[in-house]
Amino acid sequence: MFFSVLTLFPELVTTMVRESITGRALEADLFAFRTHNIRDYAHNDYGKVDDTLYGGGRGMLMMCQPIFESWEAAKTDCDVESDSRLTVYLSPKGHVLNQALVEKLASYNHLILLCGHYEGVDQRVLDEMEVQEISIGDYVLTGGELAAGVLIDAVARQLPGVLPTPDAVRQESHFNCQLEYRQYTKPAVWKGREVPPVLLSGHHKNIDKWRQLDGIRETMLKRPDLFQSLKFDENIAKEFVKYCRDMELDS
Ligand SMILES: C[S@@+](CC[C@H](N)C(=O)[O-])C[C@H]1O[C@@H](n2cnc3c(N)ncnc32)[C@H](O)[C@@H]1O
Repeated sequence: MFFSVLTLFPELVTTMVRESITGRALEADLFAFRTHNIRDYAHNDYGKVDDTLYGGGRGMLMMCQPIFESWEAAKTDCDVESDSRLTVYLSPKGHVLNQALVEKLASYNHLILLCGHYEGVDQRVLDEMEVQEISIGDYVLTGGELAAGVLIDAVARQLPGVLPTPDAVRQESHFNCQLEYRQYTKPAVWKGREVPPVLLSGHHKNIDKWRQLDGIRETMLKRPDLFQSLKFDENIAKEFVKYCRDMELDS
């Protein structure tokens, strides 16, 4: 997987990607990453990349030509068939990023991410590059760099070897539309609050069952919209009802 980022603020994205798990994965060559400073592709002495809006109105808009040339250069970062490459414009108008979309993005070999700024980007270059617009939430950011960092982090976690254990992704929240079980660390009692006894039992089968049922309960309580779409067999349904009853008796 190669991420090419078209941006006016390369250091902002680089700082995010070079830290922590993604930073270690990058050093281990589990994915590749490169930024292209759009300003370097401006055809003027001042690195001007924006201009006023036709039709009037507030603010400035990023111009077509420097973005298009940075995109042409980014395409040479990674030699793949065109159907293995996707160009994404991080945009508040886009499809909101979720786990299903993250998994789909992880199936490409080359993602080119365009970060907008100011009032956004001239529509014609978006059309020419046939971008997919992706948003990280229904609010407006100052620029696309934070959104690109979020997207790269989420996608990189899906790539083989990036997380320390192979099935770590499958146990985390949002895998199969379910949330992760509650988690605890030492000490076993803190301010009179106890860790669920099963987690101290050393009985792995019971622990796995508790985690499965607790994940379903977390989903029901915190994301009823996801819970609605969960499908489980009759046995699990019965165990879950009993688990919830026991929890009520305990509290
Ligand atoms: C100030 S915003 C432009 C907003 C635009 N005028 C509008 O109202 O739709 C500047 C840039 O930030 C990025 N951006 C802002 N909000 C975002 C979001 N929720 N998700 C992804 N990118 C976002 C986009 O790249 C956008 O071009």
